[in-house]
Amino acid sequence: GPSAFVTGWPIKHSRSPLIHGHWLKCYGLSGGYEKVATEPDAFVNFITHLNQSGFIGGNVTLPHKETTFQCADVSTPTAERLKAANTVWLQNGQLHADNTDGYGFLANLDQTLPGWDTTDRLHRPCLILGAGGASRAIVDALSNRGFSKIVLANRTLARAETLLDEIAPTGTAISLNDTQKMLGEAGVIVNTTSMGMDGNGLPILMDGIYPKALVTDIVYTPLTTPFLRAAAAQNIETVDGLGMLLHQAVPGFERWFGVRPKVGSELRQLIVNDLKRPQT
Ligand code: ATR
Repeated sequence: GPSAFVTGWPIKHSRSPLIHGHWLKCYGLSGGYEKVATEPDAFVNFITHLNQSGFIGGNVTLPHKETTFQCADVSTPTAERLKAANTVWLQNGQLHADNTDGYGFLANLDQTLPGWDTTDRLHRPCLILGAGGASRAIVDALSNRGFSKIVLANRTLARAETLLDEIAPTGTAISLNDTQKMLGEAGVIVNTTSMGMDGNGLPILMDGIYPKALVTDIVYTPLTTPFLRAAAAQNIETVDGLGMLLHQAVPGFERWFGVRPKVGSELRQLIVNDLKRPQT
C-alpha cells in the first residue's frame, strides 16, 4: 500500500507513527507510515526528490517546516500565510504543501468543548503567550475564526510585533511581563511557549482571571501543565494540548490514504500511555 513519512531532526520522539499506525489498523488500510530522520543539510534533497523515494507524502516537523514551504510547487493559502508547512503530498508529480497546525488547534477545541467560541469570548481580547512557529499558526487560526482583538505576549517583544505584522496586523504585542494586566479581560488564553514543560511554570497568577475564560496550552508533556492546573484551580475551563497533536494529523491521513480519520478516546489513550513511558 501507499507509504507516508514523518521527518525532522531529531525525529526519534515523534508520536506521529503511533497516530497514523493506529488509524491504518482501525480502518483496515494496507498503507505504511515511518520516521525518517533528515539532517538540515540533506533536507532539500529529500523533500524535492520524494517521487523517487516511493513515498506519497508525509509530515514535516522542526526544523524543516519553512524549507518545506519554500520547496513546494503548490501551497495552500494557509501555508502561504504562515510561510511554513507540516503536511505534504504528491499530485501529478508536484509537491503540494499545507500547514495543519492551526486547523488542529481549532479542531481540538471544537471537539472537546463544542461552542467554545461564544460571542462573549469572540468580543473579548484573545491572549496568546509566545511568538514561535506554533504561535504563528494559532494566531492565524484564531483571527480567521473571528477573534478580532488578538493580544500577543512574548518575552522578546520584537518577535511578537513581527509575527503580528505578518499574520494579524490589527493585533497588539505586549511583553510577557505585562500579561497579568490582561487576565481580567481575556476570553481565551493560550500558552504556546515551551514553559510548562518539565514542570516549569509561567510567571502568571490566575487570580483575577475572567471567570468565563477558556485556558488552553499546546504543551502536552505533562498533559496537565502548571498553567492549566492553576486555571483549573480557579474553576476555569481548560483544554490540554494533546488534542492539537492528534487533530493536526487528520488532513494528511485523509490526503494519503483516502479516509478522513476520527480522533477518538482510544487514540488519545494510546498516546497518553506512550507519554508515560520513560523517555530515552
Ligand atoms: P515553537 O516554534 O515550537 O512555537 P519557538 O520558536 O522555540 O517554539 O518559540 C518558543 C517560545 O517560547 C517563544 O515565544 C519564546 O520566547 P522568545 O521569543 O522571547 O524566545 C518562549 N520561551 C521559551 N523559553 C522561555 C522562557 N524561559 N521565558 C519566556 N519565554 C520563553
